[in-house]
Amino acid sequence: MSIRPILVLPDKRLRLVCEPVKHIDDHIRALVADMFETMYAAPGVGLAAIQLGVPKRVVIVDATRGDEEKHPLTLVNPEIVWASEEQAIHEEGCLSIPDYLDEVERAERVKVRFLDLQDVNQEIEADGLLARVVQHEIDHTNGVLFIDHLSKLKRSRVIKKFSKAAKREAVG
Ligand code: NI
Repeated sequence: MSIRPILVLPDKRLRLVCEPVKHIDDHIRALVADMFETMYAAPGVGLAAIQLGVPKRVVIVDATRGDEEKHPLTLVNPEIVWASEEQAIHEEGCLSIPDYLDEVERAERVKVRFLDLQDVNQEIEADGLLARVVQHEIDHTNGVLFIDHLSKLKRSRVIKKFSKAAKREAVG
């Protein structure tokens, strides 16, 4: 297991639509192990494989906080099969957009179908923080970032800020 670098905005790979996983093999299991190590170290509550530069439909989530017992969840080829009409607004951030938080409106509850690491079909119903993180991470597999849910003005401001920082880094 190792911690891998996390891609940061405006890295174009964050905009890729990721490929479904055909076979769950040792390669995928090793990727997932690295994803957990990277996410817990960050720390974060969710991570998509593309944030480590791997364009596959693999996401991990652990919405437990602080001293609570960890509840790691791996979702391969996840799909939202139902979303509540009821929406919730909550502050969100993203490890690929460090130090920027903003309020995002999402479905309060969702049903998600996915493959687990044993290659078994699973379906869960999630609400609250878990529902929010799952929707955020599934967005990543489709090249969508949480800032895409904000106003155009806010989004372009954030992208501009990160593009400038990236240029400064390239020069310095
Ligand atoms: Ni994110």
